Amino acid sequence: RAVAVVLAGGTGSRVGLRVPKQLLKVAGKPLLEHTLEVFENAPDIDEVIVMMAPGWTGDAEKIIRNAGFRKVTRVLEGGTTRNDTTHRALEAVGPEEAKVLFHDAVRPLLDQRIITDCVRALDTFAAVDVAITSADTIIVVDEGIITDIPSRDRLRRGQTPQAFRLSTIRRAYELAAKDPHFTATDDCSVVLRYLPDVPITVVEGSERNMKVTYPIDVFLADQLFRLGSHTPPSPVSTDRASEVLAGKTLVVFGG
Ligand code: CTP
Repeated sequence: RAVAVVLAGGTGSRVGLRVPKQLLKVAGKPLLEHTLEVFENAPDIDEVIVMMAPGWTGDAEKIIRNAGFRKVTRVLEGGTTRNDTTHRALEAVGPEEAKVLFHDAVRPLLDQRIITDCVRALDTFAAVDVAITSADTIIVVDEGIITDIPSRDRLRRGQTPQAFRLSTIRRAYELAAKDPHFTATDDCSVVLRYLPDVPITVVEGSERNMKVTYPIDVFLADQLFRLGSHTPPSPVSTDRASEVLAGKTLVVFGG
């Protein structure tokens, strides 16, 4: 049995609107609806639990009812931090062993291939992360001064879903609950820290699986939805490259 937990407990302060960003309409639908649709259509997913920002559960329920999503069994209130929200979700799943995928509600462009890869990886591993390579160099800064520039081929940008066997993520959170110094922003770091012997495998994510974090991301997500599910074609064929460089051709994606 595979359960998707959609994390929509945040307020979206960096987007900075009165409404939590997961309720913003992009390409005609709230971000939350796009995300839930992906899991509703996922053959590998049996059940969906939505963790919603306190005070907004009615809005989530309305979206689910109007869209007719059948896999969503519960809409619960999230906690103060993302990890609190995950912790609450863990109390709602089970008790029997399951595969659990935690996904950010604000990554509405997740594709089915990633879900399938995560669910399959859980046959072999107890913990799975989704990540992509970084085009940018990542630097480590301490009090305004660079202390390290790690080699780019070892670095990845973490996305979601993060997927676990239920018993493993439960155990990690039980140990975290006993640690007064516990802080984390994602769930794999809870496993890494409290269950260091559990290997976490990595599934290839995708550039499209972006997180809507800042106002510009709302625009980018809208554009990506317009392009549809295909990867943007190469903007110029080699024989037209010189025209583009000479400013004679306008580069248009998605045509
Ligand atoms: N999230 C959650 N519970 C929280 C905080 C965050 O379920 N207490 C969810 C968000 O709703 C989002 C995902 O975790 O889908 C990723 O977090 P982030 O982008 O940081 O969302 P927000 O906390 O809403 O944004 P901000 O930090 O700008 O306020």
